[in-house]
Amino acid sequence: MNQASGLTQLLAAMVVPPTPTQASAAGHQADGLLTAVPTTRRHCQTIAVTGGKGGVGKSTLAVNLGAALASAGREVMLLDADTGLANVDVMLGLSPIRHIGHLLDGECSLESLVMPAACGLQVVPAGSGARRLAQLDSNQLATIIRAFDELPRPPEFLLVDTAAGLSDSVTMFAAAVDDVVLVVCDEPASLTDAYGLAKVLSRDFGVRRLRMVANMVRNEGEARLLHQKLARVSDRFLDLVIEFSGWVPHDERLRQAIRRQAAVVELWPSSPSARALKKLAESVDKWVEPGRAGLDRISFFGGRAVPAGGPPR
Ligand SMILES: Nc1ncnc2c1ncn2[C@@H]1O[C@H](COP(=O)(O)OP(=O)(O)OP(=O)(O)O)[C@@H](O)[C@H]1O
Ligand SMILES: [Mg+2]
Repeated sequence: MNQASGLTQLLAAMVVPPTPTQASAAGHQADGLLTAVPTTRRHCQTIAVTGGKGGVGKSTLAVNLGAALASAGREVMLLDADTGLANVDVMLGLSPIRHIGHLLDGECSLESLVMPAACGLQVVPAGSGARRLAQLDSNQLATIIRAFDELPRPPEFLLVDTAAGLSDSVTMFAAAVDDVVLVVCDEPASLTDAYGLAKVLSRDFGVRRLRMVANMVRNEGEARLLHQKLARVSDRFLDLVIEFSGWVPHDERLRQAIRRQAAVVELWPSSPSARALKKLAESVDKWVEPGRAGLDRISFFGGRAVPAGGPPR
């Protein structure tokens, strides 16, 4: 099988009906989640939420996963890295006065951009509607990444909500984190775009592991089936592993929360999506082994230890 026929098979597999509900409904997912909050972490755990295709739920997952981690007592920063079409501030009802553009113009520090949001989440807003922000060059992207080194106290988690596509912005941010989450939904273009992004990250950036989170699915069986379709092709043609890392159901409550500019974990903590997101947050908290390849490339916090007392986790 060559790569093209692999993709064709991937698309053909899309019409296979999902297996019957295999696992628990979302409602059974998430009791007794994030437990004791450790007092220290060795590093800021950095996670990019990406996926290639537009509209698959990257920002929704980044915002709500961040809120779920923050509501469990974690220090979480969320960088809106969709620099030309900011969404995170709108999703959380924030009205930023300054954004990443001001940082790049040398008008403010990163620290001064940080805005408190739902559940204690700290948001670094992007700008919206400025072409120059939609086309940042690699020096500007590096300036943004390096600005995090100046934070007096790094958070425990940094989530990076990327734009859609394969632009330098997407790939550079994805290559600069510990873990890359591919958000995939049950559409052929979502799978093929996720594969395309995985191929670029593997070939051009030496990324050797990605994580897949299925979004807007009906149950775990459907989520795992999506993962199998993607992994079948990537295992064969790419020098990287795509791990199944969780799923979030299609949930009208999540959509309503976004419309109300709030986090679903705050508004409707017992909804299927909130329970799934809390479960995902719990598993993220256990991603102790960074997936970042040991290549010489720019990365958030550059592996610097968080200055906090006590032993590392
Ligand atoms: N699990 C879900 N259940 C129901 N609706 C969802 C879910 N996830 C996302 N959505 C909805 O899907 C739409 C697209 O979501 P979102 O803006 O997060 O996608 P995106 O991948 O960030 O898009 P873009 O590529 O434009 O940045 C939104 O209306 C959101 O409310
Ligand atoms: Mg988005």
